Amino acid sequence: MSYAADSGVCLDRILASTDLSGLSKKDATTFTRRLKEHFPRLFDKYTYVYGHQYDCYFHLQKLVEILRDGLKSRKPALKKLDNERLKNPLWYRDEQQVGMACYVDLMGPTLNDLHDKIPYFKSLGVTYVHLMPLYDAPKGDSDGGYAVSDYRKVNPTLGTVKDLEKLASALQKEGINLILDFVFNHTSDEHAWAKAALAGEKQFQDYYYLFDDRTIPDQYEHTLREIFPQVRRGSFTFNEQIEKWVWTTFNSFQWDLNYSNPAVFNAITSEMLFLANIGSAALRLDALAFIWKELGTNCENQEKAHVLIQAFNCCLQIVAPAVVFKSEAIVHPDEVLKYIDKDECQLSYNPLLMALLWNSLATRKTRLLTRSMKKSFSISENCTWVNYVRCHDDIGWTFDDAVANELGINAFDHRHFLNQFYTGRFEGSFANGVPFAENPSNGDCRVCGSLASLCGLEGALKSNDSKGIDDAVKRMMLLYGITFSIGGIPLLYSSDEVGKLNDYSYRFDDTKKHDDRWVNRIAVTRADTELALGNTSPANPTETASLRVFNGLRKMIAIRKQNAIFGQSSTQILDADNHHCFAFLRENTQGHKLLVICNFSEHVQTIQRSLLATLKGASSRDLLTDETVEMNASPLLLEPFQQMWLLAD
Ligand code: GLC
Ligand code: GLC
Repeated sequence: MSYAADSGVCLDRILASTDLSGLSKKDATTFTRRLKEHFPRLFDKYTYVYGHQYDCYFHLQKLVEILRDGLKSRKPALKKLDNERLKNPLWYRDEQQVGMACYVDLMGPTLNDLHDKIPYFKSLGVTYVHLMPLYDAPKGDSDGGYAVSDYRKVNPTLGTVKDLEKLASALQKEGINLILDFVFNHTSDEHAWAKAALAGEKQFQDYYYLFDDRTIPDQYEHTLREIFPQVRRGSFTFNEQIEKWVWTTFNSFQWDLNYSNPAVFNAITSEMLFLANIGSAALRLDALAFIWKELGTNCENQEKAHVLIQAFNCCLQIVAPAVVFKSEAIVHPDEVLKYIDKDECQLSYNPLLMALLWNSLATRKTRLLTRSMKKSFSISENCTWVNYVRCHDDIGWTFDDAVANELGINAFDHRHFLNQFYTGRFEGSFANGVPFAENPSNGDCRVCGSLASLCGLEGALKSNDSKGIDDAVKRMMLLYGITFSIGGIPLLYSSDEVGKLNDYSYRFDDTKKHDDRWVNRIAVTRADTELALGNTSPANPTETASLRVFNGLRKMIAIRKQNAIFGQSSTQILDADNHHCFAFLRENTQGHKLLVICNFSEHVQTIQRSLLATLKGASSRDLLTDETVEMNASPLLLEPFQQMWLLAD
């Protein structure tokens, strides 16, 4: 018998014994209709992972009840949004979309305070606000909120769930989507499930990976990558209370959930639907690469991780189809691509573009960027990239070694160079970064630092070097300009927009000093927003630079929003005939074309005008300067760090 037939019988039986009387008539109809459409796929995924377990169908039945309850508690306004988004599923490919990620406490400092920041978001053109994890979490170190103790409770220092719902609808009214984190690879060791496990409840011990001795952990560790070697070696933590080894990929207080247990899948689905029902337009799937463990592998990007995410996606389609997934896979580029699919994650961070923009800034060369983007930029038209320059985490050099090799670049040595360069250990470097997660066994490390400090503003301000300040601002414009113009949603990382420098105060905080990522988790103060909004005037070189950054970004964003070419159109990476320059072509079905050319060096560069031939017109207009660029014989000149957004006439 085929799966399809099986799933039909299964659904009939489940429905026959599922009480839908608590649903309104309309909801019951919607629920059954959506189940008919999506259950076959869900069944397929679920039985693929759990079919060999004797109680698989029991759990599947329970899952359907969880979905029913999810739909029941979805608010009418969100159900309306579901219908709108179903009619306009590609809203996230619109040129209007511009995101910003921010910490509530660093921007608010509470959820209620964020209402006052809506004009600030709007003045920049932000339509998508990702609030960093704001759930209840252990006091002290909680990995910046990524150790969740209760998905249904907001961290009391920030507000309440009611406040969050209020904010979500206030944002929605202003055309701004709220994005929340779905931290589902692990919970904190203070989550009720972990507490029950600690109290010896077998049912909850099975929610996690607990081992009586080192035998199995040792076997796994042969092939695991260490994520935070600076805080703890290996991926397991011994818990004295239960005398067991706990799988903790990240910090010792972040317990990995055991997805080989269908009860975990169901329980976390219920939490996911709660978050969806708060009014989140997208859920950021935190650390999704790690959710499936398979002995003998690095336990990242396993096939069943994909199957499970697809199963979660089915659940959303049934209950909250307005909500999409954003993949946070900071892994090998080939693996990043595998999460991107309409039935898996419709959105994905673009860590390769991010890392290679920084690479080109350091080397002033674009070969690796161009070659890598040619290989990895293209994704399904139903999906989109979330392009970013900085975020709350470190920068990892996740490029493909094979592509580097083709260009004669030794990947190991090159990563070493990039780390040296961005941590200021390389003679002549403009950057002020901080090394992160240095691995004493293999010398590996990653880089932290704010946009401005990594672009050279910190050093230039310190030495009162006006040319240095100028270059730093231009570097910031260049990097962000590419995220605004290349295909995808640009995502600003709050504090970048006002060019804030590294914040070293974490070094005096016992709960933070071991985690250098805090250097780039920086408050945006009222003074910053007042300056940015033009309510105060710059009083020193730092503020002058800050205002230049804000105004520069705002201008580019406004241009993006005025031109449909930045939305639903293809991106083709081109070979610029100058290896300091990066170029790509945007093209839509109406035949409109835009050519972007960027100079990564601090010297003037020339480009043969033949590149302009891709526009197939006699002239074009640079949207950034409003100047006309003719198709004549003399080469095109690009000023240091200049980018051109050439729209065909
Ligand atoms: C993600 C987050 C990071 C966190 C980790 C564990 O990668 O971005 O900040 O430490 O997951 O949750
Ligand atoms: C590693 C992980 C990534 C995480 C980061 C946090 O790079 O692959 O998921 O965000 O560590 O530092």
